[in-house]
Amino acid sequence: MAKKKALKAKGKTKAPKSKARKPVTRPVLKVVAKKPNGGGLPKVSSKPWGKDGKALDGVKILDFTHVQSGPTCTQLLAWFGADVIKVERPGSGDITRGQLQDVPGVDSLYFTMLNHNKRSITLDSKSKQGMKVLERLVKTCDVLVENFAPGALDRMGLTWEHIHALNPRMIVASVKGFGPGPYEDCKVYENVAQCAGGSASTTGFHDGLPLVTGAQIGDSGTGLHLALGIVSALYQRKRTGRGQRVLTAMQDGVLNLCRVKLRDQQRLAHGPLNEYTQFGQGIPFGEAVPRAGNDSGGGQPGVILKCKGWETDPNAYIYFITQAPVWEKICDLIGQPDWKTHPDYAKPPARLPRLKEIFERIEQWTKTKTKFEVMNECNALDIPVGPILSMKELAEEPSLRHTGTVVEVDHPTRGKYLSVGNPIKLSDSITEVERSPLLGEHTDEILTKVLKFTPREIAEIKASGATGHAPQVSGSRAQAAE
Ligand code: COA
Repeated sequence: MAKKKALKAKGKTKAPKSKARKPVTRPVLKVVAKKPNGGGLPKVSSKPWGKDGKALDGVKILDFTHVQSGPTCTQLLAWFGADVIKVERPGSGDITRGQLQDVPGVDSLYFTMLNHNKRSITLDSKSKQGMKVLERLVKTCDVLVENFAPGALDRMGLTWEHIHALNPRMIVASVKGFGPGPYEDCKVYENVAQCAGGSASTTGFHDGLPLVTGAQIGDSGTGLHLALGIVSALYQRKRTGRGQRVLTAMQDGVLNLCRVKLRDQQRLAHGPLNEYTQFGQGIPFGEAVPRAGNDSGGGQPGVILKCKGWETDPNAYIYFITQAPVWEKICDLIGQPDWKTHPDYAKPPARLPRLKEIFERIEQWTKTKTKFEVMNECNALDIPVGPILSMKELAEEPSLRHTGTVVEVDHPTRGKYLSVGNPIKLSDSITEVERSPLLGEHTDEILTKVLKFTPREIAEIKASGATGHAPQVSGSRAQAAE
C-alpha cells in the first residue's frame, strides 16, 4: 500500500507546473498483493495428512470396461477416490468373473483383483430401458471408460457425438488394440499387443523364439497409460469446461514401454550394439534390434547368475550388473583384485569382449551364497543386484504387506485372498482397498441414490428385464481385511 502511495506521489511531482496545465493522468501502476495461495488454489489445508479426502473425490466414472486393460485403469481411479460405477451385462457380467475360477461358483481372482473399490450395476445396454439408464449415467458421470472391441460402443448407440450432446463435459476414454490405421478394427489381447508393440521381437535370446513377458504390459500397462490420460483430461476440463476423447492403443502403450529398443534400432544404423552380449560373442547384427537375452536396456552389462541352491530352486538366481563406477569393489568382492589394474579388465571398453569370462568368474562367487546373501553383501557396497523373487516370496514379503502393495482382502463368497494394492502412493490420499462388487450388487443403490429414478421408474426398468437379478449382500461395501 505504501508503495502505491509513493508511486502516485512520484507521478504528481513530475507534472510540468510552469504551464499550469492539468496534471497528466498517468495510468496508476496497480500493485496486486501476491495471494498467499496463488493461482486460485484454495487455502492450504490444515487437516492432518491423509485426512482431507482423496485425490479424485467427487469424480464419477461410468466404468464400461471388461477383462484386464480397462479394469486396471478404473481400479486405479477408484483407489484415488473416484466413484466407479461398473456397468455389467445381466446374468454374466464381466467375462473374467467366470474365467480361471479356482473356487466353483465364486468370482475368480482374475476379476476380484482388478475390480476393487467399484460398484456394480447390471444393465442390458441393448434394451430400451437399459439405454435409458445408461443415458442417465452419461449425464451424471464425469468420465466414461470403455475397452470394447472397435465400434461396439457406437453400435450400442453411444457414439461420441451422442455422448457429447448428452453431456458436453464428459470425458470418453477408450482402450483399443491399435490406433487408426490398417489394424484399427482388430480385437486385441495381451500377447497380441506384446507382439505388435515390439516387445516380443526384442525379448528372449538371440538364437531363440520371440518371447512374451509375464508382466502384463499390454493390458495393465495400457490401463495405466489410460488413467494418466483421464486425469490429464479432467485437469484440462477445469479450464475449458468440456470433455474430450482419450484413446490409448495397446500397441502404442507397449511400444512406449519398449522405447529403448527403438533407440537401439536407430543406433544400429551406426554400428553394432556393443553392450549386447552377442557383440562380445562375435555374432553379427542384422537389420533389426535383436533379442537381447538378459542384457540390461541401459547399456550397463548385466546377466542372471546362479546362486546357492540353484540346482533345486528355480529362482535361486540374481541379476548382477557390472556397473562401471563400482567395478573395483566387484573385483575385491569376488577375490579378483588384479582385475582392477589389468589392461584387459580395468576399463569398460576392454571388458566388453570378455563379459562371458567375467560373469563366469562372478558366478563362481555368487554360487557360494544365497541370493539374499549376495544382495546384502553387494548392496552394502552400492553394487546393484536384483534377486529373482518368486511370487511366493513376494506374497510373503512383510515390507510389501506393510506398505499396502500386497493386501489381504475379505470377500463374502470367496473369503480372504491376497491382492496387489495401489502401487502409486500419495501421501495425502491414502488408498484403502475394498473388495470387488458382486454382480449387480449396487444396482438398486445406483438407480435410487445416484441416478434418482423414482420408485415407479425403477419398477418399470426392472420389469423390463434391463437389470436382471441383483444379489443381496449385507453391508454393501465391505472393507478389506488388512
Ligand atoms: N449389455 C448388452 N450388451 C453388452 C453389454 C451389456 N451390458 N456389454 C457389452 N455388450 C456387448 C457389446 O455391445 C458387444 O456387442 P456387439 O458386438 O454386438 O456390438 C459385445 O457385448 C461384445 O463386446 P466385445 O468388446 O466385442 O467383447 P469380446 O469378448 O468379443 O472381445 C476384446 C473382447 C477384449 C478382444 C475386445 O473387447 C477388444 O478388442 N477390446 C479392446 C482392446 C482391449 O481392451 N483388449 C484387452 C482386453 S484385456
